[in-house]
Amino acid sequence: MDNQLLLKKLDSLSIEEKIGQLVQLTGDFFEGDMDTVVTGPLKKLGLDSSYNVYNTGSILNVTDPDKIIRLQTDYLKRSTHQIPLLFMADIIYGYRTIFPIPLAQACSWNYEQIEQTAAMSARECYDEGIHVTFSPMVDIVRDPRWGRVMESPGEDTLLAMKYAESQVLGIQGESGQRTIPPHKIAACVKHFAAYGAPVAGREYNAVDMSEHMLRQYYLPGYQAAIAAGAKLVMTAFNTLNGIPATGNEWLNREVLRRDMKFEGVLISDYAAIEELIMHGYAEDGADAARLALLAGVDVDMKTAIYANQLEKVIAGNGHLMSLLNEAVYRVLQLKNDLGLFEDPFRGLQDTLQQQKSSVLSDEHRQAALSLAEESVVLLKNEHQVLPLSKHKKVALIGPYAEESSTLGMWAIKGNEADTVHLKTGLLKHVAPDLLSVCKGAYMLPLTAREALGKYEEKLAAETVAEDALLQEAIRNADEADVIVLALGESVYQSGEGGSRTSPMLPESQLRLLHELSVLNKPLVVIVYSGRPLILTEVAAEADAMLQAWYPGTMSGEALGNLLYGAANPSGKLTMTFPRSVGQIPVYYNELNTGRPDLPENGSYRFATRYIDEVNEPLYPFGYGQSYTTFEYRLLSVSRENMSHNETVDVSIAVENTGSHDGKETLQLYIRDKFASVARPVKELKDFRKIFVRSGETREVQFSIREEMLRFYGGTSEYISEPGEFEVYIGSSSRDIAFAFSFTLLQEGK
Ligand code: BGC
Repeated sequence: MDNQLLLKKLDSLSIEEKIGQLVQLTGDFFEGDMDTVVTGPLKKLGLDSSYNVYNTGSILNVTDPDKIIRLQTDYLKRSTHQIPLLFMADIIYGYRTIFPIPLAQACSWNYEQIEQTAAMSARECYDEGIHVTFSPMVDIVRDPRWGRVMESPGEDTLLAMKYAESQVLGIQGESGQRTIPPHKIAACVKHFAAYGAPVAGREYNAVDMSEHMLRQYYLPGYQAAIAAGAKLVMTAFNTLNGIPATGNEWLNREVLRRDMKFEGVLISDYAAIEELIMHGYAEDGADAARLALLAGVDVDMKTAIYANQLEKVIAGNGHLMSLLNEAVYRVLQLKNDLGLFEDPFRGLQDTLQQQKSSVLSDEHRQAALSLAEESVVLLKNEHQVLPLSKHKKVALIGPYAEESSTLGMWAIKGNEADTVHLKTGLLKHVAPDLLSVCKGAYMLPLTAREALGKYEEKLAAETVAEDALLQEAIRNADEADVIVLALGESVYQSGEGGSRTSPMLPESQLRLLHELSVLNKPLVVIVYSGRPLILTEVAAEADAMLQAWYPGTMSGEALGNLLYGAANPSGKLTMTFPRSVGQIPVYYNELNTGRPDLPENGSYRFATRYIDEVNEPLYPFGYGQSYTTFEYRLLSVSRENMSHNETVDVSIAVENTGSHDGKETLQLYIRDKFASVARPVKELKDFRKIFVRSGETREVQFSIREEMLRFYGGTSEYISEPGEFEVYIGSSSRDIAFAFSFTLLQEGK
């Protein structure tokens, strides 16, 4: 449909029909006869009984294809305006084929693969009738107490940008095209803005940060998604400097629409418009509707506010009426971009009839396996305990030994029955008579389970006394040559509403670790978690440690391959692992301060330091080991002085000096030595992940351009400033192989 027709369509709508387009409900509003709907879901949500559900514009989290066909068919029969429904869902890192959680994916540093798997996830959605996914989430995170760090690519701005771009391109296809082609769906970047920085890591808590911090570190991820063409943006639940994001006109109109040039649909987060009242920002429902409309929020997710209040609020107000028209037009445009006016099902009936669905295809499972292998991070490997020999007797112990709940909290269509657990993964490499398996401890003590609320029942019941589990584990370990201990937090301890003050392993699992470590057998610990846990105690006792995150459908197979060396670990952390809770937030790109903690100062008191803990984290950003070793040689640096249109070209040789083929991620960091605002001690500016065969050498080139040196300077403009820059190249933010400096000349010189 061309724009003229779309405008005509808009003009033909009554005000109720227009407002309906901005309302998002769940599927239950459309099931059963109108009497039951009125007394059921309508009442529950507080929707006026006069509200016509057949004006509603979109549906949330209905993911069953038959149901989608049924609802759409029925809706189109009953609606007067004949505008198809949009089906939106949280398919964050896989529909049925579940890929590793986003924090894990980012640790692969393999953005080509991230794009491919996002495309597969979109393909499964398309094949099952979903039009929009609420992904990617690109909130920067520095605080592992917050449960949703699992959904984020981590603490770094450049990586958030890469992740945003790869996801949007994978989900929607090539940027710059208006229409979304078959096999692709629309992407929604979230949560605008700065949702990842709640005070004290407590879910939904206030966010307070300077505009400099916001623009410099937090906004570029969303901006990259918009530049890649993301059709939707979702608001955040939090206040930002006192104003709730969902009612924040400055944030959504000036920053998002004017500065960031976003033209698509802005949807509220779940019930966030109504929550403007709880925030103490809106007086009542009518005020909330007015504030949200003024702030440019197009769609009201799952509340009765727009439906009940907008008409009254707008009455006779020409300005608000024009804002309503703009919002509705954007929703119609999205439907048009998806081709829904031509085919409201986007080929769904054909896909079903011809059984063409790509759900859980071999290709998708293989990609999930490969990305899972690249996402796991080898944190420690003393005496080269790993990879394991196939001839050794293994005691596989721990609550994750046979656990299929390794999909993470946002796998709404993921099915644990499709998941390969660790035992199955190991049995691909080791004979059954060389493997014993037992639990050793429950996932969580009873006291911690209660806090999980409705998820409590998902945890396995305690049928045997914990001590008996421990004794069995000690017996098995005694008889084995090596212990593989699969520990972790429960998937229900991270994700939304999963904030923790002590992000550690439960006491019972630590006790199991202590009891096994005194047996003096090689001890390999695998850690499953949705966040960096404090692993200081674990690291002191384990010989080897693999950070598995939640690896998804192919979990066990990926870990089996890694443990036995069929795959070589190459993941590198994208979020710092603190040594102790009190260090939080700890991140690599911090400021130097006026009193840096220098080694030569010893225990000098008046430096930026703790008196009871070192500043250094347990594992730094960018860190991760391999079964092989790499040596870097600096071959050349093209210049010492650089003008604005020149580049500093760096050439490095990377030699695989070990006995395994492997992948290495070289990281290039820059420090601006002196500027109109204090700049971080280092910032990731580029990286390369390369494959090098054992004994071979590969050359890697980096080019430093003037744009890479820009930042929001003292005048709030995005600029570079002349002067000295230091460059560090290494295998992590801590392990720097070499450093050099260059000078950026005054513009025009
Ligand atoms: C989450 C969003 C999600 C939405 C819809 C909210 O609770 O914050 O990320 O997309 O629910 O399910």
